[in-house]
Amino acid sequence: MNRRQFAARSLAAVAGVALYDGSGDAAAKDSTGTHPGAVPESLIQKARFPEGFLWGAATASYQNEGAWNEDGKGESIWDRFAHTQGKVRGGVTGDVACDQYHRYAQDIALAKQLNLKTYRFSISWPRVQPTGVGAPNIKGLDYYSRFVDALLEAGIRPWCTMYHWDLPQALEDRGGWPNRDLASYFADYAGILAKHLGDRITTWAPFNMPWAIAFMGYAAGAFPPCRTRFSDFLKAAHTLALAQGQAHRAVKAASPKATFGSAYEMAPAYPKTGSDDDRAAAERYHAMNNVFFLEAAMHGRYPRAFVGEPPLDVMGFMPGDEKLLYAPLDWVGFHYYTRRVVSDASKEQFQNGGNFSGTEIESNSPGGRDPYTRFRSAMPTEGPLTDAGLEVWPSGIYDLVSRITRDYNHPIIEITESGCGYLDSPDEELHGRVPDTRRILWYRETLAELARAIADGAKVRAYHAWTLLDNFQWAEGYTERYGLIYTDFRNQKRTIKDSGFWYGRVAASNRLDP
Ligand code: FCB
Repeated sequence: MNRRQFAARSLAAVAGVALYDGSGDAAAKDSTGTHPGAVPESLIQKARFPEGFLWGAATASYQNEGAWNEDGKGESIWDRFAHTQGKVRGGVTGDVACDQYHRYAQDIALAKQLNLKTYRFSISWPRVQPTGVGAPNIKGLDYYSRFVDALLEAGIRPWCTMYHWDLPQALEDRGGWPNRDLASYFADYAGILAKHLGDRITTWAPFNMPWAIAFMGYAAGAFPPCRTRFSDFLKAAHTLALAQGQAHRAVKAASPKATFGSAYEMAPAYPKTGSDDDRAAAERYHAMNNVFFLEAAMHGRYPRAFVGEPPLDVMGFMPGDEKLLYAPLDWVGFHYYTRRVVSDASKEQFQNGGNFSGTEIESNSPGGRDPYTRFRSAMPTEGPLTDAGLEVWPSGIYDLVSRITRDYNHPIIEITESGCGYLDSPDEELHGRVPDTRRILWYRETLAELARAIADGAKVRAYHAWTLLDNFQWAEGYTERYGLIYTDFRNQKRTIKDSGFWYGRVAASNRLDP
């Protein structure tokens, strides 16, 4: 089943919940406890977040900025992909997206209105270095400098992702991430950012979802540069891990105030059966998809993601690389959307590679996803599905946060993205309000589980909702809406959804029934 089919099923499954009864909060309350995996209302009522907890939202350059060729910006692999016919649903591009390059002051004012205290955004590498190497484009840096100043003036912490998928096309032309040289180019770029913005930005992460950069781009080929060799995936993953370590050192050298963390995608993995084989397969999933780059940074080695020895030769691992990988993070950042169920495939005949559709949903060939990890993973459909096709499973965030807390000795954690895609739009009968009750419900339940993890000792200090406003959703174009704010892409009008108002009250009160 692909993402579209999931979405269709989800619409049918939750249609009843979408009925609006006059108050977003009341409607969300009424619908708790009614779906598999639901969180009891008592847990939601009880939930409290610590004083000073950082409530925020996350965004990304290509998904929001537009201005794809202005002020000297170079072409990125996402520009190339979106400009290629047949790649993005509906044939749309991010050329304009939310036009945030020109409207950032308004968007930051909206973030302030929602009481946000942290704003995660990404910097477009080709805006700063049009070909990925060489002297910086000052106009590009100036844009981010104004952007950061506006955030600080609004009392919002600027949280910078240095790379959210928009590689300069010129670097792909030099071989892309499988080319080890990109680690040093990236470190140079990171140093430029820290030198020019490090007096004001103190929260840095190198990559959004490094596993997806490598896998979606070089093994599954669903995202640019659309290459499909598993060995290229392994090489790309190693370059990204080296780049993470080298960027860490470059940022710290250029900015003494810098703290360095991450924005990993993670999904808690549950074994399909109680068998030892399925348990081991779920552990391989966790190692490969969740903590591959975290282990590299914290311990200078890769976790046991593979059946047998890690294919270090295929990855291009060289003597001494352990030292380059090692770069202990000051805090650990990761996303939460949904969960996976994993089973073993190591005893079956491997046939070709698996394939992917959408941002995160895997499907696998009979022998498992690939010849090294040999597991099959699936997103279950026991809970309801969002309009974007992901299963709603609130307790997954509790399990994930608790596991990272245990395994990494109680690190400071930031939730870097978490949210849900629902298609609600302004309702004429409600004078243009957007009654996105299902999104409020999603956040109430997920955040109640996060509060439970904090109460049990996890040191979570920030939560970034994905996302501030509806934006360009990668290969799905404009057909998925994750925003707390509705964007009308015909005229760029922003309308705060009911969930946005609700989230603003949560941010002000640190409780979920504000
Ligand atoms: C994540 C991406 C983010 C957004 C959400 C819905 O995987 O990091 O850019 O597309 O999915």
